[in-house]
Amino acid sequence: MEKRILKPGTVLYPVPVVMVSCGSFSLNKQMNIITAAWTGIINSEPPMVYVSVRPSRYSYGIIKEYGCFVINLATKEQTFNMDYCGVKSGRDIDKFKETGLTAIKSQAVDAPSIAQSPVNIECVTKQIIPLGTHDMFIAEVVSVSADEQYFDDKDAFDFNSANPVCYSHGAYYTLGEYVGKFGYSVRKK
Ligand SMILES: Cc1cc2nc3c(=O)[nH]c(=O)nc-3n(C[C@H](O)[C@H](O)[C@H](O)COP(=O)(O)O)c2cc1C
Repeated sequence: MEKRILKPGTVLYPVPVVMVSCGSFSLNKQMNIITAAWTGIINSEPPMVYVSVRPSRYSYGIIKEYGCFVINLATKEQTFNMDYCGVKSGRDIDKFKETGLTAIKSQAVDAPSIAQSPVNIECVTKQIIPLGTHDMFIAEVVSVSADEQYFDDKDAFDFNSANPVCYSHGAYYTLGEYVGKFGYSVRKK
């Protein structure tokens, strides 16, 4: 197979894309939403995730100051608002007001959750690692809220039915066709 050698870059696509909400719900202060694609799972127990944020973002100082944030997953229907939160700054506008997304009280952190999001992952920052263009916020997940409508008749959470969105080479996509279950390669037919 012939390969073309590319300039080293972050071509690890597709990746999740999420709306990160920050600020203080109790003080009704600096509540904002930043869209982030540089985010992911980094540990299972304790559950830990990361979000990498450029120091130039308005949200950067807010996330740093309050020490917590919420990762809000998005569905196909929310993609327009998610994109908007990724091109407009909270320095200039109130993104909750402009998008109609609703800030609600979280369970375990003071950062607001987004009501319309199917899954709210509440995070407490444990470490901030400057990497170059971005600072990596390593955080522990302290509470997760999931929309009732995505539980199936066996009470299992079926987020795939919510049409989750991912990001690949500059564009948003929903999931494609079902290919197989974890471990299906070794399971007896
Ligand atoms: C799809 C998408 C993914 C993004 N991912 C990130 C990211 O991972 N980290 C980051 O710092 N900015 C990211 N951005 C850019 C910020 O969301 C954008 O600069 C936003 O306006 C910052 O808002 P703020 O100034 O209110 O914090 C992304 C934008 C889009 C549209």
